[in-house]
Amino acid sequence: MRLVITGAGGQVGGQLAGSLAALGDVIALDRRQCDFSRPEQLPSVIRELRPDVIVNAAAYTAVDEAEREEALAATVNGTAVGVIAEEARRADALLVHYSTDYVFDGHKGAPYTEADPPCPINAYGRSKLAGEAAIGEVGGRYLVLRTSWVYDARGRNFLRTVLRLLRERNELRIVADQIGAPTWAADIAQATAALIELAAQECTDGEFASGLFHLTASGATSWHGFAVAILEGATRPALLAAGRAPCLVPIASEDYPRPAARPKNSRLAGDRLHQRFGIALPCWKEGLSLCLEEMARRGTA
Ligand SMILES: NC(=O)c1ccc[n+]([C@@H]2O[C@H](COP(=O)([O-])OP(=O)(O)OC[C@H]3O[C@@H](n4cnc5c(N)ncnc54)[C@H](OP(=O)(O)O)[C@@H]3O)[C@@H](O)[C@H]2O)c1
Repeated sequence: MRLVITGAGGQVGGQLAGSLAALGDVIALDRRQCDFSRPEQLPSVIRELRPDVIVNAAAYTAVDEAEREEALAATVNGTAVGVIAEEARRADALLVHYSTDYVFDGHKGAPYTEADPPCPINAYGRSKLAGEAAIGEVGGRYLVLRTSWVYDARGRNFLRTVLRLLRERNELRIVADQIGAPTWAADIAQATAALIELAAQECTDGEFASGLFHLTASGATSWHGFAVAILEGATRPALLAAGRAPCLVPIASEDYPRPAARPKNSRLAGDRLHQRFGIALPCWKEGLSLCLEEMARRGTA
């Protein structure tokens, strides 16, 4: 199998190269080799590689910046994704694509299912929804996986920001009224590898059906709860030893205004994925603890 990863320099993309290696030949493309802001250049890049599987982890993910760069976000997350879907269909390849909890407005009082109507409240969410729609319009063989609150030992994410701020400040004010599932990029990549294997078997058996699935860690917490778990799991012993006991103050979203609105409820139900493929990610606390262990081993926690 020839597997092409786009967005290989990102959190999920970076983990995919290792996770997919056992499935076949992996070609990992970063932004320089495959630039989604220039969709017209994508067909020649993809055609030359003749992929059996394309895993698209490239995305414009700067949620606040997207408010003033909506056209660029729409090109990268919408138009270019449609082009990649066309190329996947042309090559008769399976396309695996990631989307987001931010396609929802967060007003539902329970976890969102794939059947709930999306209603994004920010430019990033609109651009990601456009990507989902483009894939659906093109058709072909695809799996769209919506995930949430992604973090990793590297990259720009909440975990690394909190670890840095805990070293610098005695008090952090963290939003406590947005709820979701922090999801480790390594868990997403591992599940993706398992899904590709299962989908390939379904294709061989003539049973494959394209679809949209929710793929997040199990359980849920707030950003404040996530920060408390980071403090407990990583830094408290070292900080206490240094005579410091930083305080994490829960605040409301309204007390931390940002350019982009965020959904209050980001919980995604994973039942559809579990029923079809038997896959469910571990609890978010487990993923966090393993990621922190890895960071400690590398000396980056
Ligand atoms: N991060 C989250 O909290 C989150 C939540 C829900 C869903 N998701 C989705 O999960 C997927 C993976 O996200 P992630 O967390 O791995 O994001 P990430 O760490 O920000 O990685 C995104 C990658 O896309 C690349 N990229 C940005 N603009 C590009 C362009 N014009 N052309 C080609 N590549 C470009 C980035 O390149 P550079 O490295 O050069 O910047 C980066 O390597 C995305 O579809 C995202 O929408 C993420």
